[in-house]
Amino acid sequence: MIYQLPSSKNFESQLKDKNTHLFILKNARGMQVALSDYGARIVSILVPDQKGNLRDVALGFDSIQKYYEADEQYHGVTAGRFANRIANGTFEINGSSYTLDQNNGINSLHGGIEGFHRRVWDRRMNQESYVEFYYVSKDGEEGFPGNLSVVVSYSLTDENEIIIKYRAESDQDTVINLTNHTYFNLNGEGNGDILNHHLQINSTEYLAVDEHQIPNAIIPVEGTAFDFREFKTIAQDIAANDEQLIAAKGYDHCFVNAIPISSPCASVFSPDSGIRMDVLTTEPGVQLYTGNWMTGNDIGKSGHKYLPYAGFCLETQHYPDSPNQPEFPTTSLKKGEVFTSETHFKFSIQK
Ligand code: BGC
Repeated sequence: MIYQLPSSKNFESQLKDKNTHLFILKNARGMQVALSDYGARIVSILVPDQKGNLRDVALGFDSIQKYYEADEQYHGVTAGRFANRIANGTFEINGSSYTLDQNNGINSLHGGIEGFHRRVWDRRMNQESYVEFYYVSKDGEEGFPGNLSVVVSYSLTDENEIIIKYRAESDQDTVINLTNHTYFNLNGEGNGDILNHHLQINSTEYLAVDEHQIPNAIIPVEGTAFDFREFKTIAQDIAANDEQLIAAKGYDHCFVNAIPISSPCASVFSPDSGIRMDVLTTEPGVQLYTGNWMTGNDIGKSGHKYLPYAGFCLETQHYPDSPNQPEFPTTSLKKGEVFTSETHFKFSIQK
């Protein structure tokens, strides 16, 4: 398969009275990253494989229209204002209770139906390797309190690293949890599933969930299918007789991250392409989601159906349902405080 970036023209449109664009970052080693202001999202990541051929390791579509209409709304997006789940779509701040749309069973998921992924962000691109997206989420939008100003920037380094930085401020106390929701396939999007990728997650614990996928216990990974401390294939234990995996049809769980951003919290490689990706973050959690719920209705950039396990996500974030679980690292953002967070996706060839 020959991979190339989708045409910029297919991303120049108008959505919700705003013009949309495609932005292309390039580095000295031939890597290219395409981004859209619709959802401040990653559209494509062209990275060299072990033979020096470029593969697009990010799932997605070749036009903005397809993103807008897809079954899976979260390809490559900045998920917010609260990524992942809030139980029953409710939480309290300073004694006042807030109600969100329940768009995932009884939960609120990824900031609601019209979360950050469905917004057209403002943008500024001033170098070939850097783009910034801005969004002001109004007080009450999707049920959250406070006018929240958010900036998400993407840079591409000559070390084949995508650096994502988040910054947010609110004029009232609120909650925040931001992540990037790219589905990766290190053999190239549309090129089979990710089950034979080798994955390592440097976590000793993960968050087990109840029948609504809300965390109800922090469990040691040792002796479970969730032990990725040494590299193993995603396939190895995904079909284990483990009620957590059976209920979710695969991995869809948050791992506790205690590794500082100077070292990878997770690493993945595919023996077929030789492409390796290391994930580094300041966040206390990383959600491994193996694309269990993909329907096959969406047809990706190269014309292939996205079936279950067509891609995996490593979503760096705070723990699900943190606003209702005070013992978790806090997701509260006080009026006037500045929220910052940083995640790197670093590509190389597996030795
Ligand atoms: C969630 C999955 C959900 C998916 C939607 C993931 O972050 O954990 O349960 O189906 O997002 O794209």
